[in-house]
Amino acid sequence: MKNLLKKIDYNNIPHHVAIIMDGNGRWAEKRGKIRTFGHENAIQSVRDTIIVVKKLRISYITLYAFSSENWNRPKKEIDNLMHFIHLNLTSSLEEIHDNNVKIIFIGEIEKFSYLIQKKLIYFRNKTKHNTSGTLILALSYGGREEILRATKNIAEKIHIGRFSLKDVNYSSFQNHLYTKDIPDVDLIIRTSGEQRISNFLLWQSAYAEFYFTNVLWPDFRKKDFYEAIINYQKRKRRFGTVENN
Ligand code: IPE
Ligand code: IPE
Ligand code: MG
Repeated sequence: MKNLLKKIDYNNIPHHVAIIMDGNGRWAEKRGKIRTFGHENAIQSVRDTIIVVKKLRISYITLYAFSSENWNRPKKEIDNLMHFIHLNLTSSLEEIHDNNVKIIFIGEIEKFSYLIQKKLIYFRNKTKHNTSGTLILALSYGGREEILRATKNIAEKIHIGRFSLKDVNYSSFQNHLYTKDIPDVDLIIRTSGEQRISNFLLWQSAYAEFYFTNVLWPDFRKKDFYEAIINYQKRKRRFGTVENN
């Protein structure tokens, strides 16, 4: 691990990292257990992630915890997952608060139970003055849904005369997204070997770098995160232009 840390360039730390935490079900199935067992074992990986975020001073970390499409899973898995989220939310988020990390949420939070929503709002308020980075939890989140929602919102404002068509630009559109005060994502990490975006941060990832690893999310540890950062630091980002411009 020490050797890995030596390879990190502290002048080139991504500002915003987003992780598609995938592979919990397969991790459990490999052990002959039900899929929920994988979700239960995902917490240590989140802990390790937060430690790295603090250590490298990553300003924003977004974790894809539940997608809009995940509601289409079997009812039993959803019920188990909701029960698990409800049980563990307080201790997990309390720990993140103890690390002085601010917590915010993106997605259709209103689709969760009243009790879960209450806890989420409680932690958003409680951590709003924390200064060691921001954790963005994507819950019932879908990129297409987010873009449609922003579009409808703007259309409605134009309709009632609060906004004019000539004022619609990247910046004002961005202001209507869940991520309105958050910079674009620099690095997207996906675990479990899948190489797809699965409706995550579609607008915000326009110029993101992608890093895929075969590690299943419950096995993801600090060293895996450091490896992703080192790999990212070898990339040349051009943003459509040419080098040495
Ligand atoms: C990711 O793990 C967690 C959620 C989507 C909630 P999965 O549950 O997708 O696990 P796999 O991909 O089936 O192994
Ligand atoms: C993406 O994983 C969503 C989360 C990790 C929360 P999925 O397991 O839902 O994605 P697909 O279905 O394999 O594309
Ligand atoms: Mg999956």
